[in-house]
Amino acid sequence: MSVVEADGKTPAKDQSKLAFGHTVHPLVAGGGKTPIAAPTGDPSIKLSIRVGPPVLGRGYMEAVLDSEIRRLVAEQAARTDGIKGRINLVAYQSEPNPTGKVHATKKGDKVIGRFGLKARIPFLDDFVADAAQGDMGITSPLRPKEIPNPDGLTDDAKPGVDLGLESLNLRADYIRLIAIPRRPGLTTRGAELFASTKCGVCHASGLATRPDYPIALLAGIKADVYTDFLLHDMGDELADGLPAGEDGEATYRDWRTAPLIGLRFMKNYLHDSRAHSVEEAIAMHKGTGSEASGSVDLFQALSPTDSATLLAFVEAL
Ligand code: HEC
Repeated sequence: MSVVEADGKTPAKDQSKLAFGHTVHPLVAGGGKTPIAAPTGDPSIKLSIRVGPPVLGRGYMEAVLDSEIRRLVAEQAARTDGIKGRINLVAYQSEPNPTGKVHATKKGDKVIGRFGLKARIPFLDDFVADAAQGDMGITSPLRPKEIPNPDGLTDDAKPGVDLGLESLNLRADYIRLIAIPRRPGLTTRGAELFASTKCGVCHASGLATRPDYPIALLAGIKADVYTDFLLHDMGDELADGLPAGEDGEATYRDWRTAPLIGLRFMKNYLHDSRAHSVEEAIAMHKGTGSEASGSVDLFQALSPTDSATLLAFVEAL
């Protein structure tokens, strides 16, 4: 949910109508009585959908070096075709993880966001803690506070912190260890077309990972994540009206390049699953002000054979 201006897309300065945040919570538990719903019949409220995040290959994404992401920013800044990704520099929201295994970030530190549709979250333990607290009302040592709710409850049916540190870290490790599925169907010609139509500028692969990443299999390798982790202006048509500040520095028109991992298992595409085929997803990259419009033009100018080869490549990722 977002409060927008009369144009239906620009975020309004005053978001106070949404006192309990931008996310609809239709269910209640632990003594709560009042679900969080969108105000009805209010034309200033824009509703948009976000699909749940895929979990495949996320360890590789956490392991990629910050310097690789910065390199991509610099390379794109030098381009003249309008593709200019930006890092979502976010203030770390969790308490420090006492194990310090993957990172020793402290609350408030500015770090590169990588996860979530707008790269709001930098690390996977933070992701688990954020999702547990925000989506399910489950507190943990990283996120010990119940979030404000219409019933003013400060604790639930289980007093104190709900999820122990070990349990939280095991969940993060589980997500870290899910592999990128094998991609036996990739062709050299498909990869060439992926590069020549500029898909690979944003959907970057072969990114170097940290040599000191604590999971040895993911340390010091090249990760084919098919994302640059950067925010791109994707134009009016994909905009969701959410003000900057809700997702770090991301504006209402920005989306992080979707990692193309496990794409061959997906049936719907884009942040709200509005596209029902890869071809549709590509076409929807084009829009008023979208950085990807030129890439779509290149795709649509391909011969039928090349177009089919590129689609088969993407569908095999
Ligand atoms: C300017 C950067 C940019 C370029 C160029 C680009 N993309 Fe994307 N792509 C994105 C972003 C950002 C998203 C997420 C948009 C959203 O969710 O609304 C995305 C999403 C996708 C998705 C959907 C993935 C999912 O998980 O739902 C596919 C498929 C895709 N792109 C393929 C391509 C192909 C093929 C090309 C080349 C023809 C291409 N993209 C060019 C930035 C780019």
